[in-house]
Amino acid sequence: MIPTLETERLLMRAPRDDDFSVYAAFYADEEASYFYGGPLRADMAWRRLASDLGHWQLRGYGIWALESRADGGMIGGCGLLWPDGWPRSELTWWLSPGARGQGLATEASRAAIAFAYDVLTWDLVETHMDDRNEAARRLVLRLGGEVIAREMFPDGRERDVFALPRAAEDPQVRA
Ligand SMILES: CC(C)(COP(=O)(O)OP(=O)(O)OC[C@H]1O[C@@H](n2cnc3c(N)ncnc32)[C@H](O)[C@@H]1OP(=O)(O)O)[C@@H](O)C(=O)NCCC(=O)NCCS
Repeated sequence: MIPTLETERLLMRAPRDDDFSVYAAFYADEEASYFYGGPLRADMAWRRLASDLGHWQLRGYGIWALESRADGGMIGGCGLLWPDGWPRSELTWWLSPGARGQGLATEASRAAIAFAYDVLTWDLVETHMDDRNEAARRLVLRLGGEVIAREMFPDGRERDVFALPRAAEDPQVRA
């Protein structure tokens, strides 16, 4: 059962089949998806959607689809991933280009972080990103992230690892 979270502007809900067109458009856009494994053909983007959904079944947490409460449009994803063989969990996000620059990833992150600490009772929420991913780094610093390690990951890339605190202004979430 995938929980639904509500923030001021977003409904964070289970990914579903009709989100596919937004996944496909994001992964078809080389610039938009560059730091998220793109570009990908549509059939591979569909596999990402299936993987995002399956992660919840396998791990009990995962990526929520982000739906705008204003118009019901699906605009991206945010959540918690920990694939097998990866040394650390990560808070992760992607937004369609038109949804960027409005603080929506920050808003979704605060709910996801609160969920991890309060519902999953994690001791520490972490993330990491490509050194060149300036937008993600700014987002993490805005969330109060602090570098706690620099580490080599299984894909052969070294990355900073950030701890993300439970901030006082984070929302209360219930399962
Ligand atoms: C990473 C990513 C989700 C960040 O998106 P974003 O729109 O910059 O992040 P936010 O939604 O939190 O918005 C923050 C921006 O909106 C602005 N903003 C406007 N209103 C705001 C508000 N109410 N609150 C916070 N920020 C606001 C901020 O100033 C900030 O802009 P700046 O970074 O130019 O200073 C986006 O770049 C993305 O989808 N990248 C591709 C996928 C990816 O690389 N994911 C990370 C892998 S590690």
